[in-house]
Amino acid sequence: MKIDWSQLGFHYTETDYIVRAAYRDGHWEAPYATRNKYLTLHVSATCLQYGQEAFEGLKAFRGIDGKVRIFRWQENAKRMQRSAEGLKMEPVPTELFGEAIRLALKKNRRFIPPYETGATLYFRPLLIGTTPRLGVGPGREFEFIVIPSPIGPYYEGKFHCTSFIVNRRIDRAAPLGTGAFKVGGNYAASFRATEAAHALGYDCLFTDSKTHRYIDECSAANFIGIKKTDRYADGVQSTDIEYLTPRSTAILPSITNDSLMTLARERGLKIRRRKIRIEELADMQEAAACGTACVISPIDKVVDPDKGITYHLTDEPGPILTELYQALQDIQYGRAKDTHRWCEIIDN
Ligand SMILES: Cc1ncc(COP(=O)(O)O)c(C=O)c1O
Repeated sequence: MKIDWSQLGFHYTETDYIVRAAYRDGHWEAPYATRNKYLTLHVSATCLQYGQEAFEGLKAFRGIDGKVRIFRWQENAKRMQRSAEGLKMEPVPTELFGEAIRLALKKNRRFIPPYETGATLYFRPLLIGTTPRLGVGPGREFEFIVIPSPIGPYYEGKFHCTSFIVNRRIDRAAPLGTGAFKVGGNYAASFRATEAAHALGYDCLFTDSKTHRYIDECSAANFIGIKKTDRYADGVQSTDIEYLTPRSTAILPSITNDSLMTLARERGLKIRRRKIRIEELADMQEAAACGTACVISPIDKVVDPDKGITYHLTDEPGPILTELYQALQDIQYGRAKDTHRWCEIIDN
């Protein structure tokens, strides 16, 4: 079967193999590839009964030089370990995580999109509790699964903006709850808010669940704001450019955001991770959502229906976020030197 790369959307396309590894009798078994995409699970498995489930999302890119690069998978492995600990599951060791991703890549080579398409091979690692249990509590058996899927470019054609609406009605996660973990329950809990925003033509800007005064997250992505401040000292004018991103115990620590902060710092921007009030949007020149799927999704406006205010940012993606977007994509596609060793190159 030949794949029509131009038809790849942003949805699941089944590949030849998935990779599985089980945790039984106190140890992880070796990962193996299988064509079977179905699981046989006990109806009382803790993932079904109590939501013992965590997942990840990462990509492999075919570079301009034809080589395949997996981006910062070690960070996804670490984050999944934290998610596992957050739900009292057995963490997947980093080596096993890497081995499973490489095996999934090797067994599905024909699904790695060519460079020119802008498409990528996405991996969805999944960890579930499989112990049958009706009494409330964690299980002792787990299954780690890597599901690959080629996905089309996020931006078909032009790099463009999206609009957000401020949400104070439905909390995604409690301040000291599971918001910092990538667990299915957070996403199910966010659907009412994201669907309500979509129905009005927006994406959902989550505010902190305690006071609803600060920016938390942009749907399933971190928030970035760019703020310029002119300074005068001894008759000389200079401009400070701040990269603002929320400090919150309820948001997922984004690997894209972490990478962009490094690139921004290298370009002389001042990184400020702090609580950000909604009203501060008025002082920002650029803003964006960031994550693996889009890298950067610039925001043109944010509507605050409770206050009757609309914050207008940029009509078109602004210069600073556009530069950061390109800088990160250049590393991912092998067009720029990977000075931070973020990519693992897979021989093919
Ligand atoms: C809730 C949430 N926040 C932020 C992100 C962005 O994280 P990353 O850059 O690691 O993809 C994601 C996507 O994984 C997410 O689901």
